[in-house]
Amino acid sequence: MRKILCLWFVIVFITIAQNKSINQRVDSVLQLMTLEEKIGQMNQYNDDWKATGPVTVDNDKASQVRNGQLGSLLNCLGTERTRSWQTIAMQSRLKIPLLFGQDVIHGYKTTFPIPLAEACSWDLEAIELSARIAATEASAGGIHWTFAPMVDIARDPRWGRVMEGAGEDPYLGSMIATARVRGFQGKTLGAVNSVMACAKHFAAYGAAIGGRDYNSVDMSDRLLWEVYLPPFKAAVDAGIATFMNSFNDINGVPATGNSYLQRDILKGAWKFEGFVVSDWGSIGEMINHGNVKNGYEAALSAVTAGSDMDMESRNYKNHLTQLVTAKKVPMTLIDDAVRRILRKKFELGLFDDPFKYCNAEREQQELNNPDHANSAREIAAKSIVLLKNDNHLLPLSKKTKTIAFIGPLVMPLKQNKGFWDIELPGVDSNFIVSQWEGVKNKIGAGSTLLYAKGCEIEGNNKEGFPEAVKTAAKADVVILSIGERRDMSGEAKSRSDISIPGVQEELLQALLATGKPVIVLMNAGRPLVFNYTADNAPAILYTWWLGSEAGNAIADVLFGDYTPSAKLPITFPRSIGQIPIYYSHFNTGRPAHNDNNHNYNSSYTDLSIYPKYEFGYGLSYTTFQYSNLHLSKKTMARNDTIEVSVTIANTGTYAGEEIVQLYLRDKVGSIVRPVKELKDFKKIKLLPGESNTIQFIIDDEKLSFYNQQLHWGAEPGDFDIMIGASSEDIRFQESFELIQ
Ligand code: BGC
Repeated sequence: MRKILCLWFVIVFITIAQNKSINQRVDSVLQLMTLEEKIGQMNQYNDDWKATGPVTVDNDKASQVRNGQLGSLLNCLGTERTRSWQTIAMQSRLKIPLLFGQDVIHGYKTTFPIPLAEACSWDLEAIELSARIAATEASAGGIHWTFAPMVDIARDPRWGRVMEGAGEDPYLGSMIATARVRGFQGKTLGAVNSVMACAKHFAAYGAAIGGRDYNSVDMSDRLLWEVYLPPFKAAVDAGIATFMNSFNDINGVPATGNSYLQRDILKGAWKFEGFVVSDWGSIGEMINHGNVKNGYEAALSAVTAGSDMDMESRNYKNHLTQLVTAKKVPMTLIDDAVRRILRKKFELGLFDDPFKYCNAEREQQELNNPDHANSAREIAAKSIVLLKNDNHLLPLSKKTKTIAFIGPLVMPLKQNKGFWDIELPGVDSNFIVSQWEGVKNKIGAGSTLLYAKGCEIEGNNKEGFPEAVKTAAKADVVILSIGERRDMSGEAKSRSDISIPGVQEELLQALLATGKPVIVLMNAGRPLVFNYTADNAPAILYTWWLGSEAGNAIADVLFGDYTPSAKLPITFPRSIGQIPIYYSHFNTGRPAHNDNNHNYNSSYTDLSIYPKYEFGYGLSYTTFQYSNLHLSKKTMARNDTIEVSVTIANTGTYAGEEIVQLYLRDKVGSIVRPVKELKDFKKIKLLPGESNTIQFIIDDEKLSFYNQQLHWGAEPGDFDIMIGASSEDIRFQESFELIQ
């Protein structure tokens, strides 16, 4: 014990000493800086090479860097290019190194499943590893900083950026946010394979009205604190280096100029010590929002509210000097922003070696590391959700004689990469494994794989149908790969119609008419509405966008080398009319109990109240039996805990993993509480016939919520505990009481 204490003191001492020396070094640089150089640090520009937003063309970036007028660049890729920019920065008076930021959202060269797909794995270790590998590759390519994780809760699949987050739930979202921050930042910032992470978009961007990107958000404080903020808080607790604010206004105040969010909550209550970057041009966009008149007022509003760095708008560059001179912006505020930015540059080790991340040899090594592809394949298989499997059609035998692989998404390479892929200079797409290639490599020598495209993703052209039907007729089984285009979801890709585009469902209908069993692979970046497919296809795998190893991962699941284990982190509606639909809703004063009774209750007269697939849903090739739910006690005092145990047995014939979910309901609260809330989960692996007893701990924290005064705490009373395989498939329910 004494040894542990000693060690702890040593670690604390070293950390304080290191911080002290970094703080001292930051201050010593700050002392030397002119106002113009300080403001320079608060600017981030897009490199001229590629844009992820509307560009500002200025032909003197290099001279601005040389004059110390720029702190950071984004979209500047590769050791060669970053080295050349850093060389210019080293010609500036104070030689303050540049930061290179990049949207490394689901991989750098090795592309991983889109974040929403990865979230289906509920596998925190695998998610952390995916971020770790992305960080290793990106940092080897000269990048210091990723604009990820995106931790926006999203409950509207029309919103194109639903693909970028972890779904609808604050608990699962917080766990995944933590895993991603750990993965990106590694053990310590400053390790050569770590990048700074950035929690975005602060805040409530995912609640855009009507699912339309960049739209306004109107939200109660209760909903903000209870649902939308927790993943951000989790990121702060995990030690995240930076935050990005968001494009939306929230209750009439743009997030970029929102002091309540950035000063009161983030830098105040949460004591966040990193820096905040604006979103692309969002400082200037406040003029469009209409709460400021011009760039001068926009810069004043943003800097006062706590936005430390201006991405692309040029309003800090153009107006901050004047604002400081006019004493509208105190120097202390500028110094605070610059300190936060310099601190990170010191922590990354850039003042010691500005070219630390520009090693071409390491870049080659990491971008060609075969382990990365193996990990991408594993997490991709874990992200595939088995939605339906009538008569155990899946897994297929590798000896199946003839397989017809049909559809517009069988052959493409790049489609599998999803929206935020990074096109690296000098790297072509050949390393991506198409779905065709994956299946082709999997089947035995005695099997034949036939192909027909059938139709395009969009449009009405059915000319390919007869060929597809003929091909299907020759086969024992048909695999049909359909869905969206990869860029139908993503930034600025909101859609009002989220059904399967074009004639793809009609192609399915034509194939089913042959009488052959048809397995559907559904490729998308959001939950789609696909009732015909869901009701008629005997087997469906929701494959999202799985990244560079898509083909291999799909083949692993199709042929049983991996037993699907994924579960949905977001509710799938059966109709666009149900949106927003989520599992942790309130009961209402007139709850509907089924779809047949509309007698003055909270239902639709023309539509079911139930989703097509609920939160937490996903099938396996094997079956799991839940038994022996046991609570260590039925009453719990404050600061006490209840141990909950449950036994899970694999009763099927395949080894598999089950995601056991624990939901709670506070039956009577001082304000209304949801019908259920996810509060814990465990993913366990079991061989056929094997069983395991797992434990959960219920403590005050799990029972707590924000009351009307926004105070966090648990209220005494009765609680329901539900253990299940999804938010609907509850296998056990028990009650307990929290006493004063
Ligand atoms: C997006 C951010 C992204 C930034 C830089 C913006 O349009 O909203 O998520 O990080 O561009 O590419």
